[in-house]
Amino acid sequence: MKILVTGGCGFIGSNFIRSILYNNPNCEITNIDKLTYAGNKENMKDIEIKNKDRYKFIEGDICNKRLMDELVKDSDKIFHFAAESHVDVSINNPFVFTNTNVTGTHVLLESAREENYRRKSNGKKDIVFIHISTDEVYGSIKEGSFTEESCFKPNSPYSASKAAADHLARAYHKTYGLPVIITRSSNNFGPYQYPEKVMPLFITNLIEGKKVPVYGKGNNIRDWIYVIDNCEAIEFISRKGEIGEAYNIGGGNEKSNMEMTKRLLKAMNKDDSSIEFVQDRLGHDFRYSLDCNKIKALGWKPRFDFDMALKETIDWYTSNKNWWKPLKQVLVRKGQIK
Ligand SMILES: NC(=O)c1ccc[n+]([C@@H]2O[C@H](COP(=O)([O-])OP(=O)(O)OC[C@H]3O[C@@H](n4cnc5c(N)ncnc54)[C@H](O)[C@@H]3O)[C@@H](O)[C@H]2O)c1
Repeated sequence: MKILVTGGCGFIGSNFIRSILYNNPNCEITNIDKLTYAGNKENMKDIEIKNKDRYKFIEGDICNKRLMDELVKDSDKIFHFAAESHVDVSINNPFVFTNTNVTGTHVLLESAREENYRRKSNGKKDIVFIHISTDEVYGSIKEGSFTEESCFKPNSPYSASKAAADHLARAYHKTYGLPVIITRSSNNFGPYQYPEKVMPLFITNLIEGKKVPVYGKGNNIRDWIYVIDNCEAIEFISRKGEIGEAYNIGGGNEKSNMEMTKRLLKAMNKDDSSIEFVQDRLGHDFRYSLDCNKIKALGWKPRFDFDMALKETIDWYTSNKNWWKPLKQVLVRKGQIK
Protein backbone atom coordinates (compact mmCIF):
# COMPACT_ATOMS: atom_id res chain seq x y z
CA MET A 1 0.00 0.00 0.00
CA LYS A 2 1.41 3.38 -1.05
CA ILE A 3 0.39 6.23 1.20
CA LEU A 4 0.76 9.95 0.62
CA VAL A 5 0.79 12.03 3.80
CA THR A 6 0.62 15.83 3.59
CA GLY A 7 1.97 17.87 6.50
CA GLY A 8 3.83 14.87 7.96
CA CYS A 9 6.51 17.05 9.60
CA GLY A 10 3.89 18.68 11.85
CA PHE A 11 2.52 17.47 15.15
CA ILE A 12 -0.25 15.00 14.23
CA GLY A 13 1.20 14.07 10.82
CA SER A 14 4.56 13.00 12.31
CA ASN A 15 2.86 10.94 15.02
CA PHE A 16 0.62 9.40 12.35
CA ILE A 17 3.56 8.35 10.14
CA ARG A 18 5.29 6.81 13.16
CA SER A 19 2.16 4.90 14.12
CA ILE A 20 1.29 3.68 10.62
CA LEU A 21 4.84 2.52 9.79
CA TYR A 22 4.96 0.61 13.08
CA ASN A 23 1.54 -1.03 12.70
CA ASN A 24 1.64 -1.74 8.94
CA PRO A 25 4.87 -3.43 7.84
CA ASN A 26 3.76 -3.49 4.17
CA CYS A 27 3.09 0.18 3.64
CA GLU A 28 5.32 2.78 1.97
CA ILE A 29 4.97 6.45 2.88
CA THR A 30 5.68 9.64 0.98
CA ASN A 31 5.51 12.72 3.18
CA ILE A 32 5.09 16.08 1.48
CA ASP A 33 5.55 19.11 3.72
CA LYS A 34 6.34 22.77 3.08
CA LEU A 35 8.30 23.01 6.34
CA THR A 36 6.58 26.16 7.55
CA TYR A 37 7.55 27.38 11.04
CA ALA A 38 5.34 24.54 12.38
CA GLY A 39 6.94 21.82 10.25
CA ASN A 40 10.15 20.32 11.57
CA LYS A 41 12.28 17.77 9.69
CA GLU A 42 13.80 16.79 13.04
CA ASN A 43 10.41 15.22 13.93
CA MET A 44 11.09 12.54 11.30
CA LYS A 45 14.87 12.11 11.65
CA ASP A 46 14.76 8.69 13.35
CA ILE A 47 12.05 7.49 10.95
CA GLU A 48 14.12 8.57 7.94
CA ILE A 49 17.15 6.62 9.21
CA LYS A 50 15.27 3.44 10.22
CA ASN A 51 12.92 3.22 7.22
CA LYS A 52 15.05 4.17 4.18
CA ASP A 53 13.15 1.82 1.87
CA ARG A 54 9.65 2.68 3.20
CA TYR A 55 9.76 6.42 3.91
CA LYS A 56 10.42 9.30 1.53
CA PHE A 57 10.29 13.03 2.28
CA ILE A 58 9.49 15.69 -0.31
CA GLU A 59 9.72 19.37 0.58
CA GLY A 60 6.92 21.18 -1.25
CA ASP A 61 3.69 23.13 -1.13
CA ILE A 62 0.28 21.48 -1.47
CA CYS A 63 -0.76 24.51 -3.57
CA ASN A 64 1.72 23.36 -6.28
CA LYS A 65 -0.60 21.51 -8.67
CA ARG A 66 2.14 20.00 -10.83
CA LEU A 67 3.89 18.52 -7.78
CA MET A 68 0.58 17.23 -6.34
CA ASP A 69 -0.27 15.57 -9.70
CA GLU A 70 3.07 13.77 -9.63
CA LEU A 71 2.75 12.57 -6.03
CA VAL A 72 -0.91 11.58 -6.24
CA LYS A 73 -0.19 9.38 -9.30
CA ASP A 74 1.89 7.04 -7.18
CA SER A 75 -0.54 6.69 -4.21
CA ASP A 76 -3.31 4.35 -3.06
CA LYS A 77 -4.43 6.52 -0.13
CA ILE A 78 -3.95 10.17 0.76
CA PHE A 79 -4.01 11.37 4.37
CA HIS A 80 -4.31 15.15 4.17
CA PHE A 81 -3.02 16.78 7.38
CA ALA A 82 -1.19 19.83 5.93
CA ALA A 83 -2.67 23.06 7.21
CA GLU A 84 -2.02 26.30 8.96
CA SER A 85 -3.30 25.24 12.36
CA HIS A 86 -2.98 27.94 15.03
CA VAL A 87 -6.09 30.01 15.81
CA ASP A 88 -4.09 32.93 17.29
CA VAL A 89 -1.94 33.17 14.13
CA SER A 90 -5.11 33.10 11.98
CA ILE A 91 -6.43 36.15 13.87
CA ASN A 92 -3.32 38.19 12.99
CA ASN A 93 -2.55 36.75 9.54
CA PRO A 94 -5.71 35.18 8.06
CA PHE A 95 -4.87 35.07 4.34
CA VAL A 96 -2.24 32.36 4.62
CA PHE A 97 -5.01 30.17 6.12
CA THR A 98 -7.26 30.61 3.09
CA ASN A 99 -4.31 29.85 0.84
CA THR A 100 -3.11 26.60 2.40
CA ASN A 101 -6.28 25.29 4.04
CA VAL A 102 -8.75 26.09 1.26
CA THR A 103 -6.76 26.44 -2.00
CA GLY A 104 -4.20 23.78 -1.02
CA THR A 105 -6.94 21.28 -0.15
CA HIS A 106 -8.73 22.12 -3.39
CA VAL A 107 -5.57 21.52 -5.45
CA LEU A 108 -5.05 18.14 -3.80
CA LEU A 109 -8.69 17.10 -4.31
CA GLU A 110 -8.47 18.09 -7.96
CA SER A 111 -5.25 16.11 -8.50
CA ALA A 112 -6.92 13.06 -6.92
CA ARG A 113 -10.06 13.50 -9.02
CA GLU A 114 -8.06 13.73 -12.28
CA GLU A 115 -5.94 10.72 -11.36
CA ASN A 116 -9.01 8.62 -10.54
CA TYR A 117 -10.52 9.59 -13.89
CA ARG A 118 -7.38 8.24 -15.64
CA ARG A 119 -7.46 5.11 -13.47
CA LYS A 120 -11.06 4.33 -14.43
CA SER A 121 -10.11 4.00 -18.09
CA ASN A 122 -7.19 1.69 -17.10
CA GLY A 123 -9.34 -0.41 -14.73
CA LYS A 124 -7.12 0.58 -11.76
CA LYS A 125 -8.42 1.04 -8.19
CA ASP A 126 -9.41 4.55 -7.09
CA ILE A 127 -7.32 6.62 -4.69
CA VAL A 128 -9.05 7.09 -1.32
CA PHE A 129 -8.79 10.61 0.16
CA ILE A 130 -8.83 10.93 3.96
CA HIS A 131 -9.40 14.57 4.82
CA ILE A 132 -8.34 15.68 8.30
CA SER A 133 -10.82 18.29 9.48
CA THR A 134 -11.50 19.54 13.02
CA ASP A 135 -14.23 19.85 15.65
CA GLU A 136 -13.78 23.63 15.38
CA VAL A 137 -15.83 23.67 12.13
CA TYR A 138 -19.00 23.24 14.22
CA GLY A 139 -18.29 26.31 16.36
CA SER A 140 -19.16 26.56 20.02
CA ILE A 141 -21.94 24.73 21.91
CA LYS A 142 -23.26 25.58 25.41
CA GLU A 143 -25.01 22.26 26.10
CA GLY A 144 -25.10 18.87 24.41
CA SER A 145 -22.67 17.70 21.73
CA PHE A 146 -22.21 18.09 17.98
CA THR A 147 -22.96 15.09 15.76
CA GLU A 148 -21.55 14.76 12.25
CA GLU A 149 -24.87 16.16 10.96
CA SER A 150 -24.69 19.40 13.00
CA CYS A 151 -24.37 22.52 10.91
CA PHE A 152 -21.09 24.43 10.68
CA LYS A 153 -20.70 27.76 12.49
CA PRO A 154 -16.93 28.39 12.53
CA ASN A 155 -15.86 31.44 14.50
CA SER A 156 -12.17 32.04 13.69
CA PRO A 157 -10.39 32.49 10.34
CA TYR A 158 -8.71 29.12 11.08
CA SER A 159 -11.95 27.22 11.64
CA ALA A 160 -13.67 29.03 8.74
CA SER A 161 -10.87 27.93 6.38
CA LYS A 162 -11.09 24.36 7.71
CA ALA A 163 -14.89 24.43 7.26
CA ALA A 164 -14.44 25.50 3.62
CA ALA A 165 -11.95 22.68 3.07
CA ASP A 166 -14.30 20.18 4.73
CA HIS A 167 -17.14 21.31 2.42
CA LEU A 168 -14.90 21.00 -0.64
CA ALA A 169 -13.90 17.46 0.32
CA ARG A 170 -17.56 16.49 0.73
CA ALA A 171 -18.50 18.21 -2.55
CA TYR A 172 -15.79 16.30 -4.45
CA HIS A 173 -17.38 13.09 -3.24
CA LYS A 174 -20.96 14.15 -4.04
CA THR A 175 -20.18 15.76 -7.41
CA TYR A 176 -17.37 13.62 -8.83
CA GLY A 177 -17.61 10.43 -6.78
CA LEU A 178 -14.11 10.91 -5.31
CA PRO A 179 -13.81 8.40 -2.44
CA VAL A 180 -13.49 10.80 0.48
CA ILE A 181 -13.70 10.17 4.23
CA ILE A 182 -13.53 13.10 6.66
CA THR A 183 -12.34 13.03 10.28
CA ARG A 184 -13.13 15.79 12.79
CA SER A 185 -11.15 15.41 15.99
CA SER A 186 -11.06 17.36 19.22
CA ASN A 187 -7.95 19.02 20.76
CA ASN A 188 -4.90 16.77 20.46
CA PHE A 189 -1.96 16.70 22.84
CA GLY A 190 1.24 14.64 22.97
CA PRO A 191 4.85 14.55 21.73
CA TYR A 192 6.13 16.82 18.91
CA GLN A 193 3.46 19.52 19.35
CA TYR A 194 4.80 22.96 18.46
CA PRO A 195 5.22 24.92 21.73
CA GLU A 196 2.91 27.77 20.62
CA LYS A 197 -0.06 25.50 21.48
CA VAL A 198 -1.47 25.52 24.99
CA MET A 199 -0.44 22.06 26.29
CA PRO A 200 3.26 22.07 25.22
CA LEU A 201 3.51 25.80 26.10
CA PHE A 202 2.27 25.15 29.63
CA ILE A 203 4.37 22.01 30.17
CA THR A 204 7.58 23.64 28.92
CA ASN A 205 6.90 26.86 30.87
CA LEU A 206 6.52 24.80 34.06
CA ILE A 207 9.74 22.88 33.28
CA GLU A 208 11.49 26.28 32.87
CA GLY A 209 10.00 27.55 36.17
CA LYS A 210 7.81 30.13 34.36
CA LYS A 211 4.10 30.92 34.80
CA VAL A 212 1.36 29.55 32.51
CA PRO A 213 -0.82 32.15 30.70
CA VAL A 214 -4.51 31.22 31.09
CA TYR A 215 -6.93 33.06 28.76
CA GLY A 216 -9.71 35.07 30.51
CA LYS A 217 -10.95 33.20 33.58
CA GLY A 218 -10.04 29.78 32.18
CA ASN A 219 -13.70 28.80 31.81
CA ASN A 220 -13.52 27.73 28.15
CA ILE A 221 -14.09 24.02 27.68
CA ARG A 222 -12.26 21.65 25.32
CA ASP A 223 -12.31 17.89 24.81
CA TRP A 224 -8.76 16.48 24.89
CA ILE A 225 -7.53 13.46 22.95
CA TYR A 226 -4.06 11.90 23.11
CA VAL A 227 -2.49 12.20 19.67
CA ILE A 228 -1.78 8.43 19.47
CA ASP A 229 -5.50 7.74 19.94
CA ASN A 230 -6.38 10.19 17.16
CA CYS A 231 -3.76 8.69 14.79
CA GLU A 232 -5.06 5.18 15.43
CA ALA A 233 -8.66 6.37 14.91
CA ILE A 234 -7.75 8.00 11.58
CA GLU A 235 -6.10 4.80 10.36
CA PHE A 236 -9.08 2.77 11.62
CA ILE A 237 -11.55 5.04 9.79
CA SER A 238 -9.55 4.71 6.57
CA ARG A 239 -10.28 0.94 6.70
CA LYS A 240 -13.66 0.69 8.41
CA GLY A 241 -15.28 4.05 7.62
CA GLU A 242 -17.88 4.46 4.93
CA ILE A 243 -16.88 6.39 1.82
CA GLY A 244 -18.53 9.83 1.71
CA GLU A 245 -19.01 9.95 5.50
CA ALA A 246 -17.53 12.17 8.22
CA TYR A 247 -16.51 10.87 11.67
CA ASN A 248 -16.06 12.78 14.93
CA ILE A 249 -13.06 11.63 16.99
CA GLY A 250 -13.05 12.69 20.64
CA GLY A 251 -11.14 11.62 23.71
CA GLY A 252 -14.09 11.86 26.10
CA ASN A 253 -12.07 14.27 28.27
CA GLU A 254 -14.03 17.52 28.42
CA LYS A 255 -12.30 19.98 30.72
CA SER A 256 -12.33 23.71 31.30
CA ASN A 257 -8.94 25.30 30.63
CA MET A 258 -8.68 25.91 34.38
CA GLU A 259 -9.32 22.22 35.12
CA MET A 260 -6.75 21.13 32.52
CA THR A 261 -4.24 23.61 33.97
CA LYS A 262 -4.82 22.34 37.54
CA ARG A 263 -4.29 18.72 36.42
CA LEU A 264 -1.05 19.76 34.78
CA LEU A 265 0.12 21.71 37.84
CA LYS A 266 -0.61 18.72 40.08
CA ALA A 267 1.18 16.27 37.75
CA MET A 268 4.23 18.59 37.75
CA ASN A 269 4.20 19.30 41.51
CA LYS A 270 3.34 22.99 41.07
CA ASP A 271 0.61 25.14 42.64
CA ASP A 272 -1.75 27.98 41.62
CA SER A 273 1.04 30.56 42.03
CA SER A 274 2.27 29.36 38.59
CA ILE A 275 -0.94 30.65 36.95
CA GLU A 276 -1.07 34.05 35.23
CA PHE A 277 -4.43 35.20 33.81
CA VAL A 278 -4.12 36.98 30.45
CA GLN A 279 -6.53 38.83 28.15
CA ASP A 280 -8.95 36.47 26.42
CA ARG A 281 -8.56 35.53 22.74
CA LEU A 282 -10.83 37.46 20.29
CA GLY A 283 -13.97 35.47 19.42
CA HIS A 284 -12.86 32.69 21.79
CA ASP A 285 -15.17 29.67 21.42
CA PHE A 286 -16.66 28.78 24.82
CA ARG A 287 -17.08 25.03 24.48
CA TYR A 288 -16.39 22.28 21.94
CA SER A 289 -18.11 18.94 22.42
CA LEU A 290 -18.34 15.95 20.11
CA ASP A 291 -20.83 13.11 19.96
CA CYS A 292 -18.62 10.16 18.94
CA ASN A 293 -21.26 7.42 18.73
CA LYS A 294 -20.73 7.00 14.98
CA ILE A 295 -17.07 5.93 15.25
CA LYS A 296 -17.80 3.96 18.45
CA ALA A 297 -20.46 1.96 16.56
CA LEU A 298 -17.69 0.82 14.18
CA GLY A 299 -15.72 -0.53 17.17
CA TRP A 300 -13.23 2.25 18.01
CA LYS A 301 -12.65 3.80 21.40
CA PRO A 302 -9.66 5.71 22.83
CA ARG A 303 -7.00 3.52 24.48
CA PHE A 304 -5.43 6.16 26.72
CA ASP A 305 -6.69 7.49 30.02
CA PHE A 306 -6.25 11.31 30.26
CA ASP A 307 -3.89 11.33 33.26
CA MET A 308 -1.76 8.51 31.85
CA ALA A 309 -1.46 10.34 28.50
CA LEU A 310 -0.68 13.58 30.33
CA LYS A 311 2.12 11.87 32.23
CA GLU A 312 3.59 10.40 29.02
CA THR A 313 3.42 13.85 27.42
CA ILE A 314 5.13 15.58 30.38
CA ASP A 315 7.84 12.87 30.37
CA TRP A 316 8.42 13.38 26.63
CA TYR A 317 8.88 17.17 26.96
CA THR A 318 11.07 16.67 30.01
CA SER A 319 13.37 14.30 28.08
CA ASN A 320 13.37 16.27 24.80
CA LYS A 321 14.44 19.78 25.80
CA ASN A 322 16.77 19.92 22.77
CA TRP A 323 13.70 19.61 20.56
CA TRP A 324 11.58 22.42 22.04
CA LYS A 325 14.10 24.93 23.46
CA PRO A 326 15.20 26.34 20.06
CA LEU A 327 11.54 26.52 18.91
CA LYS A 328 10.57 28.50 22.01
CA GLN A 329 13.52 30.87 21.54
CA VAL A 330 12.11 31.74 18.09
CA LEU A 331 8.63 32.34 19.56
CA VAL A 332 10.11 34.62 22.24
CA ARG A 333 12.11 36.56 19.59
CA LYS A 334 8.91 37.02 17.55
CA GLY A 335 7.11 38.29 20.69
CA GLN A 336 4.52 35.49 20.48
CA ILE A 337 5.32 34.21 23.97
CA LYS A 338 7.16 35.56 27.02
N1 LIG B 1 -3.76 19.91 16.71
C1 LIG B 1 -5.04 19.67 16.96
O1 LIG B 1 -5.47 19.63 18.12
C2 LIG B 1 -6.00 19.39 15.83
C3 LIG B 1 -7.32 19.04 16.13
C4 LIG B 1 -8.20 18.74 15.07
C5 LIG B 1 -7.75 18.79 13.77
N2 LIG B 1 -6.48 19.16 13.50
C6 LIG B 1 -6.04 19.19 12.08
O2 LIG B 1 -5.01 18.22 11.94
C7 LIG B 1 -4.07 18.64 10.95
C8 LIG B 1 -2.67 18.64 11.53
O3 LIG B 1 -2.64 19.54 12.65
P1 LIG B 1 -1.30 19.74 13.49
O4 LIG B 1 -1.69 20.16 14.84
O5 LIG B 1 -0.40 18.57 13.30
O6 LIG B 1 -0.68 21.01 12.73
P2 LIG B 1 0.82 21.50 12.63
O7 LIG B 1 0.75 22.98 12.46
O8 LIG B 1 1.64 20.96 13.75
O9 LIG B 1 1.36 20.84 11.28
C9 LIG B 1 0.95 21.26 10.01
C10 LIG B 1 2.00 20.80 9.00
O10 LIG B 1 1.56 21.21 7.69
C11 LIG B 1 2.67 21.76 6.99
N3 LIG B 1 2.17 22.73 6.01
C12 LIG B 1 1.57 23.94 6.25
N4 LIG B 1 1.28 24.54 5.09
C13 LIG B 1 1.66 23.70 4.10
C14 LIG B 1 1.58 23.75 2.67
N5 LIG B 1 1.07 24.82 2.04
N6 LIG B 1 2.05 22.71 1.95
C15 LIG B 1 2.58 21.62 2.59
N7 LIG B 1 2.69 21.51 3.92
C16 LIG B 1 2.23 22.54 4.67
C17 LIG B 1 3.53 22.42 8.06
O11 LIG B 1 4.86 22.62 7.63
C18 LIG B 1 3.39 21.43 9.20
O12 LIG B 1 4.38 20.43 9.13
C19 LIG B 1 -4.55 20.02 10.48
O13 LIG B 1 -5.28 19.85 9.30
C20 LIG B 1 -5.45 20.50 11.62
O14 LIG B 1 -6.43 21.40 11.14
C21 LIG B 1 -5.59 19.47 14.50
